[in-house]
Amino acid sequence: MPRRSSKKRECVITGNWKMYKTIEEAKQFVENVTPKLSSSQVKVCLAVPFTAIHPTAELVKKLGAPLVIGGQNMYDATEGAFTGEIAARMLLDAGATFVILGHSERRHIFHESSSFINKKVKRALKDGLTPVLCIGELDEERHRGETNAVLESQLEASLEGVSPEDLSKMILAYEPVWAIGTGHTATPDDAEKAHLFIREFIVEKWGKKIGNAIVIQYGGSVKPSNAQELLSQENVDGLLVGGASLDPTSFSEIVNSKDL
Ligand code: PGA
Repeated sequence: MPRRSSKKRECVITGNWKMYKTIEEAKQFVENVTPKLSSSQVKVCLAVPFTAIHPTAELVKKLGAPLVIGGQNMYDATEGAFTGEIAARMLLDAGATFVILGHSERRHIFHESSSFINKKVKRALKDGLTPVLCIGELDEERHRGETNAVLESQLEASLEGVSPEDLSKMILAYEPVWAIGTGHTATPDDAEKAHLFIREFIVEKWGKKIGNAIVIQYGGSVKPSNAQELLSQENVDGLLVGGASLDPTSFSEIVNSKDL
């Protein structure tokens, strides 16, 4: 298996904090993790709760920390009577530069469809936020041998009408649902197979240039002990880390494993 160094793509490692951390806890994390981030080859991102976006973005600026702050969800309108929702331009205003869209917890707990996610993707792109689009199959779909079919239909519907130019600004994340928060990581081989399938699908629909350049992250029970092997796969360009991103030590170990 060729080493990742043969790839030209940027390595992007994102922490997804989900519904964890108050403002104080978030700021403490940024203070603690900053001196631990030795890797110069990795773009390190944190998708924090809405309330923590502005304070962490300000702190990152003040410290000159090598961190990029983003959100975990948004609505597709620019503004309006949508109680409890947040707009892309509000995330940008608070200091976010990217947003996770279509996370499996949004798809399965909050019943978001790919066509709804597609609207959000388009809005984020229009308003200047980088969408990180998550896709992935359920355990039963995997057992029925439907992984590729699920990935294809999620990609097709979530990216419907997105131009090659816009797609080149996005990040994709393969997150098998059965691996999220379960401790069961996909084997590096299985992850590589899914990533290759995703890349080939993008090449087929949007062309070679975009398909070869797009960053595809792996997510699902990433830990310091498995990060390096996952990152060494040819088509795994980065990681989306949930649980292990909440602790500065384990998160920095994951980031720094890229240098080992
Ligand atoms: P996990 O979550 O690392 O805790 O499995 C990943 C994710 O949901 O993005």
